[in-house]
Amino acid sequence: MPTDRFAVGPVVVREAGPEEWPEIAELTTEVYAALAPSCPPPSWTSYLGSIAATITQPGEARRLVVDVGGRIAASVLLCPPSPGPAGRGTNPHPELRLLAVRADCRNSGLAGRLIEACEQWARRDGHDAITLHTTSLMPAAKAMYERRGYLRAPELDFEPGPGFVVWGYRRPLL
Ligand SMILES: CC(C)(COP(=O)(O)OP(=O)(O)OC[C@H]1O[C@@H](n2cnc3c(N)ncnc32)[C@H](O)[C@@H]1OP(=O)(O)O)[C@@H](O)C(=O)NCCC(=O)NCCS
Repeated sequence: MPTDRFAVGPVVVREAGPEEWPEIAELTTEVYAALAPSCPPPSWTSYLGSIAATITQPGEARRLVVDVGGRIAASVLLCPPSPGPAGRGTNPHPELRLLAVRADCRNSGLAGRLIEACEQWARRDGHDAITLHTTSLMPAAKAMYERRGYLRAPELDFEPGPGFVVWGYRRPLL
C-alpha cells in the first residue's frame, strides 16, 4: 500500500461504472491538458479533444481507477487487442491507455498500482504481452515504464503530425 499524504480512507483499485466515466474523462482531460507545451502540435490539440469520447463511449475497454476514500485519484483504460493485417492501428496485444493521476496524488505509487492491475487483467485474459504508447511530452511516464520492463516496440510507433512521433512500448508478461 502506498503511504498517502492525501489519503483520507482506503486505497482501492477497481473497475469504474458507466456513471463514473464522465468524471474520469474530466480528470484525464485536465491532466493531459497540463502536459501541453505553450504551442502544442495540432495533432495534440485534437487528441485532447478526443479524450472524453474515448472514455465515455461504450466499448470493450475496462476503465480502472484508484479510489482513495471514495474519491477517484487516478485512472487508466485497458483496451483489447486490435488485430488485423500488420499496419497502423493494429496491435495483437491489449493496450494500456490514458493513464492519469491527479496532480496532488502523485509519487505515492498510484500509477504503479494501475499498471500492475492492467498487467494482471491481461495475464488473466491469456495474453503474453501488454502494450502502451507514450510521447516526448511525458518524460516521467516514459522513465517509469522503462523501469518497469516496458521495451520499445517501433512497429507500434505512429506519427499523427509531422515530427510528432508517438512511441510504442511492449512488456512481455511471462
Ligand atoms: C506519469 C504519472 C502517471 C505517474 O503517476 P504517479 O502516481 O505519480 O506514479 P507512481 O507514484 O506510481 O510512480 C512514479 C515513478 O516516477 C518517478 N517520477 C516521479 N516524477 C518524475 C519525474 N519528473 N521524472 C522522472 N521520474 C519521475 C517516481 O520516482 C516513481 O518512480 P518508481 O516507479 O521507480 O518508484 C503521473 O505523473 C501523470 O499522471 N502524469 C501525467 C499524465 C501522463 O504522463 N500519463 C502517462 C501517459 S503515457
